[in-house]
Amino acid sequence: MPLTRKAYRAAILHSIADPAEVGIEASYEYFADGLLVIENGQISAVGHAGDLLPTLPADIDITHYQDALITPGLIDTHIHLPQTGMVGAYGEQLLDWLNTYTFPCESQFADKAHAEEVADIFIKELLRNGTTTALVFGSVHPQSVNAFFEAAEKLDLRMIAGKVMMDRNAPDYLTDTADSGYQQSKTLIERWHGKGRLHYAVTPRFAPTSTPEQLALAGQLLGEYPDLYLQTHISENKQEIEWVKALFPERNGYLDVYDHYKLLGERSVFAHGVHLCDEECARLAETGSAVAFCPTSNLFLGSGLFNLPMAEKHKLNVGLGTDVGGGTSFSLLQTLNEAYKVMQLQGARLSPFKSLYLATLGGARALRLEDKIGTLQPGTEADFLVLDYNATPLLSYRLKQAKDIAETLFVLMTLGDDRTVLQTYAAGNLVHQRQ
Ligand code: GUN
Ligand code: ZN
Repeated sequence: MPLTRKAYRAAILHSIADPAEVGIEASYEYFADGLLVIENGQISAVGHAGDLLPTLPADIDITHYQDALITPGLIDTHIHLPQTGMVGAYGEQLLDWLNTYTFPCESQFADKAHAEEVADIFIKELLRNGTTTALVFGSVHPQSVNAFFEAAEKLDLRMIAGKVMMDRNAPDYLTDTADSGYQQSKTLIERWHGKGRLHYAVTPRFAPTSTPEQLALAGQLLGEYPDLYLQTHISENKQEIEWVKALFPERNGYLDVYDHYKLLGERSVFAHGVHLCDEECARLAETGSAVAFCPTSNLFLGSGLFNLPMAEKHKLNVGLGTDVGGGTSFSLLQTLNEAYKVMQLQGARLSPFKSLYLATLGGARALRLEDKIGTLQPGTEADFLVLDYNATPLLSYRLKQAKDIAETLFVLMTLGDDRTVLQTYAAGNLVHQRQ
C-alpha cells in the first residue's frame, strides 16, 4: 500500500502527564507554530513547524490553519446513547427522573429503525463536539448497541459500548433476565469486542436494577473474555445510596456490592462517585478502577459536587463524562466549564491544563488506551481536532486579549462548544467539518 502522509500546521497543544503528578509546566507540550504529521492513520511526528518542515519531502500535502489550535480528540468516559432524545428533562432528581423520563425514552429502542436513526444522530453529535472516543451505555435492547457499533465501524472510530443489563426495579417492558442479559451480552461481545477499533463494555445499569444473580453473571463475563470493559453508576445521589444499602444489607456499602461481584478492575469505569468516601476511593484506586466525573449532570440532577482533590489524593484514575441525557451537553468543552464551577463551589481550582488532561489523556488512562489515544505522541492514532479561535464574535474578541496559551485554553473551555470544533479527524480521516 502506498504511504499516505499528510501534515497539519497550526498552534498545537496536548497533555503528556497529569498536572497533579508532575506539576502544570511538565504536563503539556505547546507549539505556537506547530506541525502534526500523519502517516496511514497514525501520528508520525509532532513539533515545531520550523524543526519538522526541513525533514519532510518538499511536495508533502500540508493544511495550514490560521487562528486555530490542534488538540487530541476528546474522550467522553460516560454517556447514554438512548437518552439523546430526552436531554433537558425538567424538574426531577435521579430516581424520579429515571422513572418519569428515562425509562419511557429508552423503551423506544425496542424498534430497530429507531435505534439506527438515533445511533446516527448520536455519532454525528459526538463528532460535531470533538469527541472521538466514548464509553457508551446502550439501552437494554441489543439492537441499540448493534446500531451504534455499525455506525462507528463505518467511520473507523475507537468506541466502547454495551447493552444495559437490568432485571429488576424497572418497568417490565425494559428488563432482561439474569440469563438473557448474560446471553445477549455474550452475543454482542463475540460480534464486536476487538473488531477494528471497537470494544465491549459489560453494562449493569446500577446495583438497584440488577439482582445478585445478574451481577454475578456480569462478573463472570469479565472473566470469560480478555480486556472487556465494565461500566456502571455509583454513589450519584443520596436516595440512591440509601436504596442500595436497603437492597444489599449484607454488604459494606455501595462499592462493596460491586466489589463482591468482582466488577472492579483496570477496565472498570464507575460513573459519578459524587458521594464516595475515602476508603472507597482507596479501594477503587487499588484495583485500578476509574471514575467518570460528570459535572454537568451532577448539577442538572442536583446530585452533588464531585471531590476531585480526594480522587487525586488516592491517585484514582478520573475521566470526564457528559452523561447525556442527565448531562445537558455533548460538548466536553462545556462539561469542563461546569467542572470548573463544581471545583469553585468547593473552594478548589481546576487549572485549564488539568481540564485538558481530564478530557484527553486522563480519559485515555481511565480506559487503559493511553498507548493509542489521548495525546499527539508519535505512534498513537490520529484522532485530533482543529479548534477555531474565531468560532463566534465573542470568542474571537476575547481570545485577542489572551496573553498566553493558559488563558487561551481556559477561555476555549469557558466560551467554547460545538461551534468551536472546526474539524474532527479519526484515524487520520476527516469525520466532521463544521459548516
Ligand atoms: N443511574 C442509573 N441509571 C442512570 C442513568 O441513566 N443516568 C444517570 N445519571 N444515573 C443513573
Ligand atoms: Zn449515566
